[in-house]
Amino acid sequence: MRRLVVNNAETMKTTRSNKPANKLANKLANKLANKRLAVLGAGKIGGILLRAFLEQKLVQPKRVHATVRHAEKARALARQLGITVSTDNRAAVRDADIILLAVKPQAVKEVLEEIKPEMKPGKVIVSVVASVTTQLMEKQLGMDLPVIRAMPNTPCAIGCGMTGIAKGIHAGKEQMEIAQAMFEAVGRVVVVDEKHIDAVTGLSASGTAFIYIILESLAEGGVKVGLPRDVATLLAAQTMMGAARMVLDTGDHPALLKDAVTTPAGSTMDGILELEDGKLRVTLIKAVMKATQRAKELIVES
Ligand SMILES: NC(=O)c1ccc[n+]([C@@H]2O[C@H](COP(=O)([O-])OP(=O)(O)OC[C@H]3O[C@@H](n4cnc5c(N)ncnc54)[C@H](OP(=O)(O)O)[C@@H]3O)[C@@H](O)[C@H]2O)c1
Repeated sequence: MRRLVVNNAETMKTTRSNKPANKLANKLANKLANKRLAVLGAGKIGGILLRAFLEQKLVQPKRVHATVRHAEKARALARQLGITVSTDNRAAVRDADIILLAVKPQAVKEVLEEIKPEMKPGKVIVSVVASVTTQLMEKQLGMDLPVIRAMPNTPCAIGCGMTGIAKGIHAGKEQMEIAQAMFEAVGRVVVVDEKHIDAVTGLSASGTAFIYIILESLAEGGVKVGLPRDVATLLAAQTMMGAARMVLDTGDHPALLKDAVTTPAGSTMDGILELEDGKLRVTLIKAVMKATQRAKELIVES
């Protein structure tokens, strides 16, 4: 059985650290020192990233300006985070070096139109918006500004995220290092060609929801065979984390690790037969395919 190699593809480079304290993260984090950040759309993912960046002290609170659509939300968030939060995107980007775009795809056009007069060389847009291409954003801005697409996931909230980043044609090494530094601080980063970003959306961004369903179902199985729910949930969650860590830390192919658990005529094999009968594999493959496809469609609707 071949070992799993996660970073050999020409277009994909992964960084392995989850720890902001390590050398690489420190070096990258320095790239953000004294930078001014605008977060346009501090909702679920924008808010998670913003909180994580502040907790990691990646940016100074006084150098951050976030926006939302509703004024009352802006006031509440400003109180919570101790930063400037408004509904004024133009004001937010005026002095910003890095603009993190985290609105829904449908709002991108309007937001880019709004900030266009403030955009000038030296600024970089890092967009976590699903399905809106760098080309579309560059066209909308009407100038040669660096745009980077990033697709993070919600475990960024606890420093265990997975983010794919892809560069637009005007983004260079310096801007990619800035984006890498941001997402390295909250998990791992993979650099991909932009054509793969929808697939990253379908696998690791949407994938967290798939994993929660699997985890919940395993716990239900535990409850069915008599375990208290809290114990069942702990067993399921720690088992999933342990299995994932085995893949990441050993580099072994998951099938090899699975074989090591499956003793001949043992109980695991009976469980696996049920999974095969229930078409778990094909169902998960199709879930990633459908989510990827949907990510491509969103832009058509916006
Ligand atoms: N959720 C995830 O796990 C995840 C992961 C990766 C990428 N993404 C992408 O991130 C984007 C946001 O998703 P989300 O789940 O975070 O959605 P969300 O919770 O609805 O957040 C969107 C935010 O944008 C704000 N907003 C709307 N119009 C605005 C405008 N014109 N100017 C400034 N702010 C505006 C909203 O303000 P109000 O709160 O006042 O309405 C809200 O705070 C989507 O494109 C999604 O594809 C999401």
